[in-house]
Amino acid sequence: MGKSSKDKRDIFYRLAKEQGWRARSAFKLLQADETFNLLDGVTRAVDLCAAPGGWSQVLSKKMYEPRTAEERQHVKIIAVDMQGMAPIDGVTELRADITKESTANAIIEFFGGQKAQLVVSDGAPDITGNHDWDGYMQAQLLLSALSISTYILEEGGSFMGKVYRAANTSEVYRQLKRFFKEACVFKPSASRNSSIEAFVVCRQFKMPKDHVPCNLITEWYIRPEQALKDITGLKYGPVEHLPFVAHQCEYDADLSYDLNENYEHHEAVQKPLTAAYQAVIEKTRNMSMKYNSYVVRHDGEPSAEQEKNDKKTT
Ligand SMILES: C[S@@+](CC[C@H](N)C(=O)[O-])C[C@H]1O[C@@H](n2cnc3c(N)ncnc32)[C@H](O)[C@@H]1O
Repeated sequence: MGKSSKDKRDIFYRLAKEQGWRARSAFKLLQADETFNLLDGVTRAVDLCAAPGGWSQVLSKKMYEPRTAEERQHVKIIAVDMQGMAPIDGVTELRADITKESTANAIIEFFGGQKAQLVVSDGAPDITGNHDWDGYMQAQLLLSALSISTYILEEGGSFMGKVYRAANTSEVYRQLKRFFKEACVFKPSASRNSSIEAFVVCRQFKMPKDHVPCNLITEWYIRPEQALKDITGLKYGPVEHLPFVAHQCEYDADLSYDLNENYEHHEAVQKPLTAAYQAVIEKTRNMSMKYNSYVVRHDGEPSAEQEKNDKKTT
């Protein structure tokens, strides 16, 4: 398959490289901003699950680059991910897991007593292909992002996060309605129609009376009935729906587009610093397959290669 094949099949992948974005996902945030003016007047933002940094580039381009040197001192953007990412002007990187409370504390410390006006989260778990499981894991990640937001968003602030429309999404919608006056499901045109991916866009953050910021996942498991009652006033809540908003543009992410005569192949703007499956690669480095059986070598045990060399030398 030639280098141009993916450029034909994925118009947003091609456009991202042409326009200098690290990831095609940058268009999803750009399209959300086009639809909701999410970044208007914002100077303090958090990008959760940010690597390789497409969304952070958008934040930098809209919030940092257009401002004067004096104004830039008041711009605060923090990008959080378990993977490392190459630096971006005006963006502070925090390498951390968003499901940990220590990460929420580190973000609070970064803002030094101020609060953020916007939290965005494009977090995605490693996909298994099992829609129910992937949807469940995605919902857990979104709830972690929402939990962090309850600590650091200012009243009236906004939130955008990735969801997979799946069996348990209603519970997540209910949680969002608990904290925001306005919430909808948004489908950018850069997100394929064939994908269950969508984004929740929530405006007008409002801390419910008597709610103390906490990990919402833990809260749900420790006192599910209380959490449900707080949210709905009922013991068993009805299925929750949110209004659906779609972004329209000249390109369809599911279509292939021919390359015209001016087409020039571009390399990726910034390759990821760590491969997505780095941890698995490390763990399976010492695994060999012999006669249809697996040989798992534990840390510290010699690899198959070393064993072979040892045999040669003895
Ligand atoms: C789709 S990518 C984000 C792309 C990014 N918005 C961009 O435009 O470049 C999803 C990211 O979620 C991160 N992630 C998944 N679970 C996480 C967690 N628990 N804490 C922090 N990052 C996480 C992954 O490391 C991955 O970099």
